[in-house]
Amino acid sequence: MKKISGYSKLSKEQKINWLVENYLNNDETAKSELISYWHRDLHTQKILDEFSENTITNYFFPFSVAPNFLINGEWYCLPMAIEESSVVAAMSNAAKYWSERGGFTTEILGTSKVGQVHFIYKGDEAQLKADFSTIKNQLLEGSKYISYNMEQRGGGVVDIELVDMTQHEAGYFQLKATFETCDSMGANFINTCLEEYASTLKELVGNNPKYGTVKIILAIVSNYTPNCIARATVSCKVEDLGSFGTISATEFAEKMRLAVRMAEVDPHRATTHNKGIYNGVDAVIIATGNDFRAVEACGHTYAARNGTYGSLTHCTIENGIFKFWIDLPLAVGTVGGLTQLHPLVKRSLEILGNPNAEQLMAFCAVAGLAQNFAALKAMTTVGIQQGHMKMHLLNILNYYHATASEKDYALEYFKDKVVSFTTTRVMLEQLRNAKNGVK
Ligand code: MEV
Repeated sequence: MKKISGYSKLSKEQKINWLVENYLNNDETAKSELISYWHRDLHTQKILDEFSENTITNYFFPFSVAPNFLINGEWYCLPMAIEESSVVAAMSNAAKYWSERGGFTTEILGTSKVGQVHFIYKGDEAQLKADFSTIKNQLLEGSKYISYNMEQRGGGVVDIELVDMTQHEAGYFQLKATFETCDSMGANFINTCLEEYASTLKELVGNNPKYGTVKIILAIVSNYTPNCIARATVSCKVEDLGSFGTISATEFAEKMRLAVRMAEVDPHRATTHNKGIYNGVDAVIIATGNDFRAVEACGHTYAARNGTYGSLTHCTIENGIFKFWIDLPLAVGTVGGLTQLHPLVKRSLEILGNPNAEQLMAFCAVAGLAQNFAALKAMTTVGIQQGHMKMHLLNILNYYHATASEKDYALEYFKDKVVSFTTTRVMLEQLRNAKNGVK
């Protein structure tokens, strides 16, 4: 019974029953727990169910906001869906800090997306290359019916190149197409165009004795979009950075510069540094219904574009000015996909003032920069554990079912002590024993 065919055809209740019987020891509590996470509004639940397959319930995740973001002179509150302790607190902290120093500025450096048709060509390569501009026009012509709507909105296909990859594999060529997809992320539009190019290519080249054979291997959007970039920047006079305990503003600025420099040159540090950046970026990406896997994959490739994996943020101190910025590739959309369907995605976009795709790119870049600034600020001054441990402590206290008054006591108690599962358990035992009069 652990193997089943036709599971997807069962009703939601039947799916749960089968799961509980076969994988959850027939436990009625497990069944009612799964059901307890259904949305009380059946219509909303149906929408959620239909996002994916074999849906049996909803998976809860914290939905937070980070207020006080001054971006290009306007105030914003960023919606964030993230489970990791301290991330939202850190973002809010960085937002407030920079709002007192001029805020964030953003610019969009490009918005183009890429798709590829990968194929094996066996024939006269010189002839294929020589005729490519004619072939390209026919590819564009043949896909006009697909790109018409996108063109009306100001986007469409920008160019198609023939890329010779035969140095890697005999006969390997690509059609590498560039697109503008306006406010949509564009993957569906791009994939539809690419499949059309693939069949036109087979028809035009593969069925023409002048050339040779064409074997289409695959046609798909590329999640690497090095020309779809948002830049976010903060800067101020070094002296305006303020001091942190015994650390002067000048010393802090230099420590920050060095912390970024280390991530620029060392992949071990860069991976963690960039992970922190995606703490902020992914949280906004998820809240706004975008594809965080695509955005992250792209960012990591971009971070390695010069041959070594390095930092996505950069920092300079020149003429007494501290400048900290990020260039982040972000293929995101504010129309299509989940954006009009998921209730909290719609609400997130509303919180952001219903942005277009470029504005959302800017918000995500700001989120990444803010998160990185907050992490580096903590690490180069008081250390990361101080802020982090308070949230971590609350999670441990919840694990031990601490009451509200036990939590208050623990927060005070651990102000000058190291937090761990063991120290928290021992503290709670002592507290509870004292309360019960146990010696
Ligand atoms: C933790 O989720 C993120 C950090 O490790 C980022 C960093 O080291 O820059 C704090």
